[in-house]
Amino acid sequence: MTKLLKTIQPTTFLIGALSLVGLVSVSACGEESNALEDRVLTADEQILADAIENRQYNMKDMGSAFKNIKDEVRSGSDDRTLLFYSAKSVQTSAQSHEHWFPAGSGPELGIETRALPEIWLQHDVFVAGVAEFIDESNKLVTAVQSNDAAVHAEQLKRTADTCKTCHDQFRSPED
Ligand code: HEC
Repeated sequence: MTKLLKTIQPTTFLIGALSLVGLVSVSACGEESNALEDRVLTADEQILADAIENRQYNMKDMGSAFKNIKDEVRSGSDDRTLLFYSAKSVQTSAQSHEHWFPAGSGPELGIETRALPEIWLQHDVFVAGVAEFIDESNKLVTAVQSNDAAVHAEQLKRTADTCKTCHDQFRSPED
């Protein structure tokens, strides 16, 4: 019996070691978004992970509201209700923007995000960009209440410029 154990043990150990090596290399090659699957998040990390998920959801939602306005302006259709509520939705999102980026919710958490570390490294510039975005989105609400299609179009462009300025500086390009 003792003899049998002695012969089995090294083999078992070897298999164990090999599968460990296998596991490590699998997770190293895995998608970045799966990087956290192997470990349990601390409560603080979970809050940050939720913040990333929420901001991506909210950005998409804001993207749809903004697209409604673009489509209205392009088609020349003048659905005043749609224009107004879409602009209000962009305005509300703009006002919440700063809270969508708590410190620590950058790429360092290991969750897929296009938010660049510069958001926190050059925070003053980021905050100034948010302030400009809020300002233009306020004007967008006023503009869509006017009867003038040229005013809608001009303010849409100005607001879109603030989206682009921030994305160019603080969002990584798509893979
Ligand atoms: C102050 C900076 C800033 C402004 C202003 C801004 N964005 Fe973004 N946006 C970001 C960042 C950073 C991300 C990446 C977030 C992430 O991946 O965690 C992003 C992501 C997005 C996404 C992708 C969401 C996803 O995960 O699929 C959309 C759509 C988007 N923004 C639309 C807009 C629109 C439309 C505007 C203007 C009306 C706008 N953004 C204004 C910084 C900004």
